[in-house]
Amino acid sequence: MKTIGVFDSGFGGLTVLRELLPLIPDARYVYLGDTARLPYGSKSRETIARYAVSSARFLAEQGAELLVIACNTATALALDDIREALPNIPVVGVVRPGAESALAAVQSKGNTSASRVLVLATAATTQSGAYTRTLQSLGLRATEKACPLLVPLVEEGWIDPSPHASVTLDVLRIYLLEALEQAPDANVLLLGCTHYPLLKPLIETTLGTLHHPMKVIDSAEATARAVAALLPAQEGAAINAAPECIFYATDSIEKFQRLGSAFLRQPLPAVHLVDLGG
Ligand code: DGL
Repeated sequence: MKTIGVFDSGFGGLTVLRELLPLIPDARYVYLGDTARLPYGSKSRETIARYAVSSARFLAEQGAELLVIACNTATALALDDIREALPNIPVVGVVRPGAESALAAVQSKGNTSASRVLVLATAATTQSGAYTRTLQSLGLRATEKACPLLVPLVEEGWIDPSPHASVTLDVLRIYLLEALEQAPDANVLLLGCTHYPLLKPLIETTLGTLHHPMKVIDSAEATARAVAALLPAQEGAAINAAPECIFYATDSIEKFQRLGSAFLRQPLPAVHLVDLGG
């Protein structure tokens, strides 16, 4: 049974883990949320790479034989650094699977050349241009919009349902209005941050009020499929109803357990605190 390491700066990567569990049940999962150093998305490339490499090394020390970088920011800015630091471990990021999901969504509408993908992501991810490059390599046009307030809102649990979700709706309305001014022809919305799928119902509501309904997609399912493709077929197909999951966070372990259970839609076992330094 393989040990799969899954890493994000916080809860966001649980959206990827949620897709991995049913698809690859015959595995042991070690998840790390680097909550002490979150958000990554407002930091420099050098800092993001340092944090991401130390987090990946920690998962390798816990026995991870395959790493899933369930964080767009770390994927966009530090995938090569992680691969260089851990040359013997296959590393799967989320940007390419996300872009391929956008392509599949566009193709299902039958019009690739006229399509523009609007990518919502952190400031660091948008500045890296990783999504624009990857989408263009697939023949798609792209506009990226930085939404720096969304990760803190998700980490606070101000998603639907929450009495505070109206604040998040206001923030989303401003971001989406600005984004649609830049890209009025956008017809697919790609969630380029693994925290954002937790806002999907609120994003769809906001697009409705702005009279710009779009297909909203994320990288979670495609990333899980990319991981499954690296494993021998019998492992992906094995039957094991309850894969073993071990959770680590670098801060706020009680909050991680409480909100993480809601996000993963199943109770989380005790979350272990780990100190990865500054
Ligand atoms: N979930 C991370 C991502 O996909 C959020 C990054 C952050 O910590 O700002 O980009």
